[in-house]
Amino acid sequence: MTNLKAENFPKLQNDLILRASRGEKVERVPIWIMRQAGRYLPEFQEVRKNHSFFEICRTPEFACELTLQPIRRYGKLLDASIIFSDILVIPQAMGLEVQMVAGKGPVFPAPLETPEDFARLSDNIDVEKELGYVYQAITLTRHKLEGRVPLFGFIGAPWTLMAYMIEGGGSKTLSKAKSWLWKYPKESHALLQRISDIAIEFLVGQVRAGAQMLQVFESWGGELSPQDFKEYSLPYIRQISTRVKEQLTKEGLDVVPMTIFAKGSWYALEDLSESNYEVVSLDWTIDPKYARQMTKDKVALQGNMDPTVLYGGFDAIREIATRMVHAFGKDSKHIANLGHGILPTVDPEALKVYLETVQTVSADIRRDNH
Ligand code: CP3
Repeated sequence: MTNLKAENFPKLQNDLILRASRGEKVERVPIWIMRQAGRYLPEFQEVRKNHSFFEICRTPEFACELTLQPIRRYGKLLDASIIFSDILVIPQAMGLEVQMVAGKGPVFPAPLETPEDFARLSDNIDVEKELGYVYQAITLTRHKLEGRVPLFGFIGAPWTLMAYMIEGGGSKTLSKAKSWLWKYPKESHALLQRISDIAIEFLVGQVRAGAQMLQVFESWGGELSPQDFKEYSLPYIRQISTRVKEQLTKEGLDVVPMTIFAKGSWYALEDLSESNYEVVSLDWTIDPKYARQMTKDKVALQGNMDPTVLYGGFDAIREIATRMVHAFGKDSKHIANLGHGILPTVDPEALKVYLETVQTVSADIRRDNH
């Protein structure tokens, strides 16, 4: 099964999100959801109860199956799929152990403490050998999707991955990771560069395997001051989009649209809109009108309803989703999503109401105005 080739993929039937990313006028706002394959779905829990999280990530048939679950359940209500994997597969490929602990999230038993621990990281990583299972999952999924919607590949941005590698898991203050920036600035840059080099090769490999869009998750961007973001996050985010696109061009591959999600980094919107990404994803604390002013007409904007609204009852979901679509504006280049991943205890029917509302309301306002 997994020796399927990255060629002769079924013809794409819904390219709405690709057109919206490239700034074309579309008939309605495309929509997908960060973490759309996940614990809120009973069919996910069913698979997960017998297999560990990273076993699933490493088994192309499982990763493919989980990617398809939300597409099967919601049918035409979703306009994209995202390969089932995790941002922490890069630190694993670099030689660090990561466990997924129930009720706690990711845990690194031996995180980096000082730059001397670089000795524990692998040198000259063979990305294909370490992460080829993600490529196989992407290729298999492209075939199994039967062209229903485009498939996203993704990575975690270098600062977010560095923070996990030093904190060893989630953290309220990121005090360990941030102290590296003050104590070891040179070594911090060296680590960020090492991660970037792998990330670039990995993203190009994902496109070679069949990914039709790419998203970069800077989930901990907002923990940095504006100045520190400019020094420790932005240069690597820019290097990634630029070098990935250069390499895709060189190999004659499709130069796919790229999305940057820097959670909490509202102050960086203008810089992000000038960073060689087609789409800038917004968290829910950002007013869409403000984001449009800061980014001018340079990018499509993605987002951004507060994920907790999905706990608010169907009427509140309809009202707030409608308000969001209007706030982005009738002619805006907009891709709908939540402002962060869907939470694990959401009712799948509540998500359905969100998807339906965005599709209906956005189709109505665009029809009325054109
Ligand atoms: O559907 C999808 O979006 C694709 C799959 C996906 C997962 N993780 C699956 C997952 C994606 C795109 C990610 C990205 C990811 N992983 C991010 C960036 C997005 C964000 O949320 O900011 C981050 C920070 C991680 C690291 C990570 N992985 C954390 C912090 C956790 C635990 C948090 C939690 O919600 O408990 C994970 C675990 C994880 N990744 C799960 C899933 C479905 C749950 C694991 C389980 O079944 O126990």
